[in-house]
Amino acid sequence: MAERVAIILAAGVSSRMNTQIAKVLHEVCGRPMLAYVLDACRKVGVSKIYVVVGFSAGQVKERFDGNDIVWVQQDKQLGTAHAVLCCKEHLKDFTGETLVLCGDAPLIQGEMLRTLMEKREAEQSAAILATAVLDDPTGYGRIIRDAYGNIQGIIEDGDCTREQLAIKEVNPSYYLFNNTVLFEAIEKVRPDNVKKEYYLTDAVSDIIATGHKVTAVTAVRPEEAMGVNSRAELSTASKIMQRRIQRQLMEEGVTIVDPDNTWIDARAQIGQDTVIEPFTYIHGEVKIGQGCRIGPFAYLRHGTVLKNDVVLGVYAEVKNSTLADGVRVRHHSYIGDATVGQNVNVGAGSVTANFDGEKVNRTSIGNDCYIGSGAILIAPLELKDGLHVGAGTVVSQESVDKLGQKD
Ligand code: UD1
Ligand code: MG
Repeated sequence: MAERVAIILAAGVSSRMNTQIAKVLHEVCGRPMLAYVLDACRKVGVSKIYVVVGFSAGQVKERFDGNDIVWVQQDKQLGTAHAVLCCKEHLKDFTGETLVLCGDAPLIQGEMLRTLMEKREAEQSAAILATAVLDDPTGYGRIIRDAYGNIQGIIEDGDCTREQLAIKEVNPSYYLFNNTVLFEAIEKVRPDNVKKEYYLTDAVSDIIATGHKVTAVTAVRPEEAMGVNSRAELSTASKIMQRRIQRQLMEEGVTIVDPDNTWIDARAQIGQDTVIEPFTYIHGEVKIGQGCRIGPFAYLRHGTVLKNDVVLGVYAEVKNSTLADGVRVRHHSYIGDATVGQNVNVGAGSVTANFDGEKVNRTSIGNDCYIGSGAILIAPLELKDGLHVGAGTVVSQESVDKLGQKD
């Protein structure tokens, strides 16, 4: 097998997003778009990933690490072919195969790339692309075929004639090239189009015109073909990703009572036989054990760890806290920056007051404690095992220490 590398195009300014943030950093289910594209590349094994950055390059580089990433600077965003050309110094002598992907297409999956690789290998083509048929192809490059159905090239939306605009077969913009053929064609691209940009799609058309064999994986599912160019598309991509996350969790034995009214971050982990009731929002790196009951209307935030058989009920919010086996927090409570021991019961409306106006403080609740309704636990605070806190009590470390002295 030939050595394989990937180029991910991520330098674009993204005027349609109307943003100061690099487009590929906009998040889909809690992770930046680029993270998913990197995942897909890593799944199929590439020796290096050249990520072309430009607009807000510093922001992008800060968010990612990995020995396999090579950052390539594109100072002026002159188009997708120009972005590839920026990798020439690194790849001019490389004779293997090169995947080219867009950083704004987070729905790409490893399986898709594997299909491209296997088909190119079997067909011995110089390049292979994917195509998808969309009900609404607006904005995408259209696939142009001759009378025999052979692909002749790709024409960008803005450059299409009226007839071409009606074509529903589009370019999702992921390709696998023989690297030498790719760079030969890239060098020839000229900005002869409406946008005056150097289009990667023109390189594909040129490779075909030169007589090289170019094949395609057709009928890619529309959801895998999607590129994100606007906030509306970002929300659509997030919905699709959310369905994938939930489907995966359900396969792993998690019950999600109402998937449409539940939101689970891509980074969350949930154990077998846990039930997620409707209107639950799980955000950030959250770890939930087995046999838990979460929601309805629960809000779990970054850094939450629930061990097994934990019950979080209606309007319970938990942040950056670890709740041991059998903890019950059923109604209207906030647990922030706390460690809660086994079988603790937290009554309705009890909160950890974890922020003193300057800093966030921790609360530690021992095993088998009983916290009555409406208690306010003022952090920093440590409650020993088995302690009962009466309903409506305001508990500070000082008051607990005094109790200890009376014993
Ligand atoms: C591109 C394709 C189009 C395809 C669509 C699929 C071209 C010319 N067009 O269009 O055929 O249907 O994707 O989503 O390739 N970028 C750079 N440097 C640049 C310009 C762009 O790195 O100078 C990056 C962008 O950050 C983005 C990607 O390349 O991640 C694609 O650019 P974008 O402007 O989104 O192209 P589309 O119009 O979506
Ligand atoms: Mg795009």
